[in-house]
Amino acid sequence: MVETVRTIQELRAVLKRWRQKGETVGLVPTMGGLHAGHLSLVRLSRAKTMRTCVTLFVNPKQFAPTEDLDTYPRDEDGDLAKLEAEGVDLVFQPGADEVYPAGYATSVHVGGLGDILEGEHRPGFFTGVATVVTKLLVQALPDIAVFGEKDYQQLLVIRRLTRDLDIPVRIESVPIVRDDDGLALSSRNAYLSDAERKTAPVLFGTLSQVAENVGRGANVAEQAEWGVDQLLHAGFAGVDYLCVRDADSLDEVSGASRPARVLAAATLGSTRLIDNVAV
Ligand code: PAJ
Repeated sequence: MVETVRTIQELRAVLKRWRQKGETVGLVPTMGGLHAGHLSLVRLSRAKTMRTCVTLFVNPKQFAPTEDLDTYPRDEDGDLAKLEAEGVDLVFQPGADEVYPAGYATSVHVGGLGDILEGEHRPGFFTGVATVVTKLLVQALPDIAVFGEKDYQQLLVIRRLTRDLDIPVRIESVPIVRDDDGLALSSRNAYLSDAERKTAPVLFGTLSQVAENVGRGANVAEQAEWGVDQLLHAGFAGVDYLCVRDADSLDEVSGASRPARVLAAATLGSTRLIDNVAV
């Protein structure tokens, strides 16, 4: 079975062994419940470095009290089997006490970028993400760390904190892996009923249409409004946001003169889905 460690001390001991042999290291942080999207991150890391370490940690600090920390899809045996099959070298699976021991008091807040869109609708979310990712990067000090475009704003927040805190790790990203009907793979898709699952691809379809229209010069505000209507008509219960933003800063844009991204979060039944498409 793939080697698994649960403490920071053991993690550092294994990485030190690799370093002494001159081996490069890739880190792939996840919360488990692994699917083909996560595995594409693993494959990129394996292609770019000699050793790959995957972390499995459902980070309590990025869940609000009302959110799904207790029911978040967990499948430890399944995850370890998948990582073994991918040829992963090490799994870091710390307990919450290892990451946040008694007296833990420090958090990382990425201002601006971390306060809008997802940050506005899930207060504290990006501070939880930024805190744990900073800790994982500093614990392992890999050559690269790999994240998915599925969580596009998260990727930008992590790039920002890595630069701001001078963490000597290169952040690499992987395109969104989707099901055949376009739905972005997500651990939380498991919450969808059969009927909701049939409706869910409308999110990608709508974002793709908005991206295409804006790319052809259509009015950004009108397109965003049209997109929201599409989702509500299709049966989404609510749309937290659907917008076209600058692909690097997430600033508002009035057209597609620079690379832009269409981003949305919407709820289907009680499941909140996020997705994004390049213009
Ligand atoms: P998690 O949701 O498990 O996702 C782990 C990584 O997999 C993230 O970088 C995410 O963007 C990527 N990913 C998920 N679904 C994907 C898909 N369909 N295609 C491509 N990449 C995909 O994101 C987190 O965990 C956490 O916030 C974490 C960064 C681990 C910090 O706790």
